[in-house]
Amino acid sequence: MKEWNDHFFDFLVSHAKVYGFIFPSSEIYGGLNAVYDYGPYGIELKNNIKEFWWKTMTILHENIVGIDSSILMRNDIWNASGHVNEFNELLIDNKDSKKRYRPDLLIKEHVEKKFSNHPKKKEDILFRLSQSLKKKDLLDLKILFDELNIFDSISKTKNWTEIRHFNMMFKIKNENKKDLYLRPETAQGIFCNFHNVKKSTRMKIPFGIAQIGKSFRNEIFARKFLFRMREFEQMEMQFFILPEEEKRWYEYWKNVRLKWHLILGDKKNYKLRNHDHLAHYASLGADIEYHFPFGFQEIEGIHSRRDFDLKKHEFFSKKKLRVFESKKNYIPYVIETSLGLDRLFLAIFSSSLKKEELVENRTIRIVLKLPSYLSPVKGAILPLVGKDGLPEIAKKIFDEFKMNHKLIYDQKESIGKLYRRQDAIGTPLCFTVDYKTIETDTVTMRCRDSMKQKRIHIKNISRIIENETGLEKILKKLSDFI
Ligand code: GAP
Repeated sequence: MKEWNDHFFDFLVSHAKVYGFIFPSSEIYGGLNAVYDYGPYGIELKNNIKEFWWKTMTILHENIVGIDSSILMRNDIWNASGHVNEFNELLIDNKDSKKRYRPDLLIKEHVEKKFSNHPKKKEDILFRLSQSLKKKDLLDLKILFDELNIFDSISKTKNWTEIRHFNMMFKIKNENKKDLYLRPETAQGIFCNFHNVKKSTRMKIPFGIAQIGKSFRNEIFARKFLFRMREFEQMEMQFFILPEEEKRWYEYWKNVRLKWHLILGDKKNYKLRNHDHLAHYASLGADIEYHFPFGFQEIEGIHSRRDFDLKKHEFFSKKKLRVFESKKNYIPYVIETSLGLDRLFLAIFSSSLKKEELVENRTIRIVLKLPSYLSPVKGAILPLVGKDGLPEIAKKIFDEFKMNHKLIYDQKESIGKLYRRQDAIGTPLCFTVDYKTIETDTVTMRCRDSMKQKRIHIKNISRIIENETGLEKILKKLSDFI
């Protein structure tokens, strides 16, 4: 168990690969840094997470609708939104290793390691860091960096360049060899469609637009598996409000989003942290942080973007992006909730992966205790043995219910091994066809978490799966505080 705890993150990455959740991109050519592919069970889990978020936003909130805007957009949008000039990270190079880093992250890591037993000292340094970032004072930041005597972990030297800015947007060329950007956030597609959506749906303020889609960032310090990737997915929602209601809606969304996360996991794994360093478009901001295997880190951001984006787009596009409602002509304010789908996947995967010692038969099992409504496969139909007509009955049951639920039929190993395999991919229920099935039309139902077994009639299988693994129950629970 000690080894499991000490090397949990390595086990997690390996489990994700071996059981078909996450593969390194371009692996047969040596891999591509900070880019990953979702495998057969990974995509099912990811799609279930998306569906859960999407339904929460667009079904439980009657005043939120969805869109799916394009990844490629005109450069005018990124000039207007400020991303061309402001969407920068800090950069420092080590001249000996030729490796590139984010100095703010190196400082944070250094402080975590060196001063974990000196909270006051740690707090002072982090305060100095936040002040330099706020003032965008690169000289001051470099002084702090040098004072901390930070070595490069590869070259073991302190031979650093000056600190500089680096724009995080990926550039590509179009057919005329002109630069285009891959979007670094999905939000701008929402702002630019604000009027189209409002007109076509006849929505009135307050209302929201939700979107799930890929974003791209040329991250300098991309690592920690799915946590910081160069190609990732965001689930964003922009909520358009009356300017005077900014505080109320900001508090509402902070509260509602935190509660949504708490439904998914243990309370002690979540924190709400107000921002000390705001993005260029935001006036108020907080992060929901999750306790990843490498510490508390941001999983979702909630910001008030005020009228920053609509105002800029109105100015640059010369198209009216204001509303005339309740006898007022105004540009609405926006509260944004922005959640990283891959980060949420990692959070759910890491909190679900368990190693259990089974005292009764002195073995261990690796089990993925996913919330059952998110499990990639809802039920496995397994014949006890591969003969005497049992596979045929099991296959018939599988065919009867496969249209309603994501099921698996498997007869490749002994029943004990089949159960372990379903545990490892997080299947909540297994239904085993045995000799009694032939006479009684009943099967053994085995539950993933308790490992308890129970005899049930075949005709009840579908209803039980729906009851135990459907989204409806959880959506009802959520609707109580929305
Ligand atoms: N539209 C606002 C926005 O994009 P952000 O804080 O930069 O805000 C929002 O990003 C969320 O997107 C983050 O909380 C995180 O979950 C996810 N995210 C950002 N960069 C990421 C990356 N490189 N890899 C994976 N997820 C990322």
